[in-house]
Amino acid sequence: MRIKFVSAQLKQKGTIAVFVSAKGSLLSSATKLNEKTQGALKRATSNEGFSGAAGQALVINSPNGVNASKIVLVGIGEGKKLTISAAQAAGGKLWSLIEKSNDAVLIVDPVQGSALSVAEIAANMAYGVLLKSYRFDKYRTKEKRKDKPTLRTLSVGVRDPAKAKKAFDPLQKISNGVFFTRDLVSEPANILNPENFVTKCRALSKLGLKMQVLTETQMKKLGMGALLGVAQGSANSPRILAMKWNGAPQAREKRPIAFIGKGVTFDSGGISIKPAGGMEDMKWDMGGAGVVAGLMYALAARKAKVNAVGIVGLVENMPSGTAQRPGDVVTSMSGQTIEVINTDAEGRLVLADAMWWCQQKFNPHTMIDLATLTGAIIIALGYHHAGMFSNDDDLSLKLIDSGKSTGELLWRMPLAAEYDKQVKSQIADMKNVGGRDAGSITAAQILQRFIRGDVKWAHLDIAGVTWTNENKPIVPRGGTGFGVRLLDDLVARFYEKG
Ligand code: BES
Ligand code: MN
Ligand code: ZN
Repeated sequence: MRIKFVSAQLKQKGTIAVFVSAKGSLLSSATKLNEKTQGALKRATSNEGFSGAAGQALVINSPNGVNASKIVLVGIGEGKKLTISAAQAAGGKLWSLIEKSNDAVLIVDPVQGSALSVAEIAANMAYGVLLKSYRFDKYRTKEKRKDKPTLRTLSVGVRDPAKAKKAFDPLQKISNGVFFTRDLVSEPANILNPENFVTKCRALSKLGLKMQVLTETQMKKLGMGALLGVAQGSANSPRILAMKWNGAPQAREKRPIAFIGKGVTFDSGGISIKPAGGMEDMKWDMGGAGVVAGLMYALAARKAKVNAVGIVGLVENMPSGTAQRPGDVVTSMSGQTIEVINTDAEGRLVLADAMWWCQQKFNPHTMIDLATLTGAIIIALGYHHAGMFSNDDDLSLKLIDSGKSTGELLWRMPLAAEYDKQVKSQIADMKNVGGRDAGSITAAQILQRFIRGDVKWAHLDIAGVTWTNENKPIVPRGGTGFGVRLLDDLVARFYEKG
């Protein structure tokens, strides 16, 4: 769907959406429509238990006195509570009421008491509509036309369209990144193997991202025994892809911020095979890598003033005659050895080598990894926060702050040496699992062994937030893209200035 900013006008055919604030009070355009329709809006709001609260919406069909075939009242609640996320959520709600329209205009009036300008309200509502309109329907060949959304363009009517468009422009680019991630996460594993993941990302070169790919042979030379052990049971060979964006002005810090993604394109568990029920979910075990790719898309598209590198470790974890066995000992690129007790604890093995290589090759000042790493994080936090582990308090606060401002929430979990004894091995430097207790923490403790002392690091365990089975205000069912907006905000607010 396309978003277009136009000057506000009420003569539109099709659907017109206007604002109503708390206690059913009509804003200026709603008041005008109410007059034209001889009080239809007031009658509707008083009869239908619609108070104009945020999140409410009401449809008036075939109103008299206007060209429009449908008027949608969008509740925005009290002006002072109309924040960026509230505006986005109102947009998401609006989408469900206009998706079957042929033509729709949303009229954005100034909102008294809101800290947001009209342009910001317009841009963020449009952003909410857009994010909620995402669909992954390429494999539905039999879906009837009438069951699909028909709206091609949403016009947003606002007094200064140029200003609103300017505010929307970066949001449009970020949403392209989010959609790139959602597409990757939704794609089944027979299509999205490591090689194909790289092929899809190569298209991002046109945005100015510099690509570097490591093949299996090169990884062998580099000594990436941990990652290669995971890959060795699969017919699809592994890859590492680095996407580099150099956007910082000359005088600034040269060292990049790095983002690393777990890209297990399918996680069967390997020889420690998973139960059949729900195993199909493991097509999205590349969610971290998907976020890194979508984030790099967003940063490059909006020409972020930052040096950033995105690295994805791509493997398929399969059982076969060549697969690694429980009890095998692998040597990681860092030289540390790992006893593989459970081949299903593979993400940490992939990240160990991807993160080590990242530090050797790119010398980042800060490194943030994302991974659908543990089922245990879902036991701890459910589906509404991602787990965050970090060796740096300042970085943690920044991440939590960006989480709150984008609605992609993080909850900090502990790291502590006491957990290390759970991963002690009899024959190697560590084993890859630490038992049931504190499963997400022991996984993070293992990752920390592959972080150089001078690097600020955070690990985001996104197993609970990468996919949603329920519709959320600005996220439809399916792959969420959680992390793209969060990390784009982090970069924009904390790493692009001075
Ligand atoms: N990819 C899984 C974690 C996961 C589970 C992600 C559910 C999303 C939803 C990971 O590779 C895994 O299998 N972890 C094991 C670790 C265990 C063997 C120590 C787990 O969580 O059970
Ligand atoms: Mn696994
Ligand atoms: Zn996994």
